[in-house]
Amino acid sequence: MVNAPADTVDVNTPTLQDIRQELGDCHRCPLCQKRTHIVFGEGNPQARLAFVGEAPGADEDMQGRPFVGKAGQLLTKIIQAMGLTRQDVYICNILKCRPPGNRNPKPDEITTCEPFLVKQLQVIQPKVICALGTFAAHTLLKTEVPITVLRGRFHTYQGIHLMPTYHPAYLLRNPGAKKQVWEDMQMIMKTL
Ligand code: URA
Repeated sequence: MVNAPADTVDVNTPTLQDIRQELGDCHRCPLCQKRTHIVFGEGNPQARLAFVGEAPGADEDMQGRPFVGKAGQLLTKIIQAMGLTRQDVYICNILKCRPPGNRNPKPDEITTCEPFLVKQLQVIQPKVICALGTFAAHTLLKTEVPITVLRGRFHTYQGIHLMPTYHPAYLLRNPGAKKQVWEDMQMIMKTL
């Protein structure tokens, strides 16, 4: 294989593997004490669409993969209904370790973990980010405006279109909200 000429290689841009390596066997916050696996994120490193959830649950912690439990199965169905596969998109979370008992992420945990997500999204440079649920939307958009108000229109995150929508776990408890999520996904599909 012929290497790209030196002046076309951006030596300052890390790869997702570089970011994973930098994260290492993370002990930056107390969540490391009870986690089984770090859930870094997975999918296409050149995805046009990235989904960002809240934090790994029990299934994700066991497998080291994002959105593989009940809520994850619903997210997979949503992705497929959009005419895509999980391999086409990138899926990750605000936190990379499971909060014990699935409690809400704490502000200092978010502050510690967020730089890695920021770097992942900088590398992937998706056309659209879909923020799943309140924590993802609030963390990325630096707002406290309720998800009910945020969803349904595009916002901007670091120059990228960001669509907040309801979390699939919320949809499992409130199936009536699926219609609104599907409206949000249709807006995303038009933009992609
Ligand atoms: N809920 C999330 O927010 N993320 C996951 O990976 C799984 C469930």
